[in-house]
Amino acid sequence: MISDEITRREVLAIAAAAGGIPAGRPLMSGVISPAAAQGTAGAPAPMDVMLRVNGTEHRLSLDPRTTLLDALREHLHLTGSKKGCGLGQCGACTVLMDGKRVKSCLSLAALVEGREIMTIEGLAQGEELHPLQAAFIERDAFQCGYCTSGQIMAGVACIAEGHAGSPEEIREWMSGNLCRCGAYDHIVAAIQDAARATNSVRGG
Ligand code: FES
Ligand code: FES
Repeated sequence: MISDEITRREVLAIAAAAGGIPAGRPLMSGVISPAAAQGTAGAPAPMDVMLRVNGTEHRLSLDPRTTLLDALREHLHLTGSKKGCGLGQCGACTVLMDGKRVKSCLSLAALVEGREIMTIEGLAQGEELHPLQAAFIERDAFQCGYCTSGQIMAGVACIAEGHAGSPEEIREWMSGNLCRCGAYDHIVAAIQDAARATNSVRGG
């Protein structure tokens, strides 16, 4: 979820510009309703937005209703993050924002200006895969692959949060990421492997 640094005032101002939220309707800070995300009201004036993605600044002119996911995929052509449900339910669109996992289909791009966004494209170090990417390959943790980038980004956060202590714990903390192919056992094994690898690196 987007941090409290994004104020309710900012959310309402942008939502009002987008014409996406009826007056008086309650709204969680930084999170938009699916209806607002896919709103079809008359197009509002574009906004200048600076997005920091994978360490690079991008200056974009966006419809204020543009979700972070659409900004990444359609404006920056970073198509690793996938649109599954578009409703915050499947996790295919998961990215990291300031190190924390967020569902980019529910975040307005204009509200994450200046935040550090990391997508699957920014995870590897040159030719060297992130340990979790390598573990997904080693463990054969995907079939169609549609959920995979979201699973990996959520898995990276799951490990960083210290929630990879057991298969049960991993399943609980990865429950927001669905896999229609049912590759869960392999995904959990890959996260366990990467957590161990990360710990062994830390332990020196
Ligand atoms: S596409 Fe974002 S949660 Fe499904
Ligand atoms: S590998 Fe197909 S949806 Fe997960």
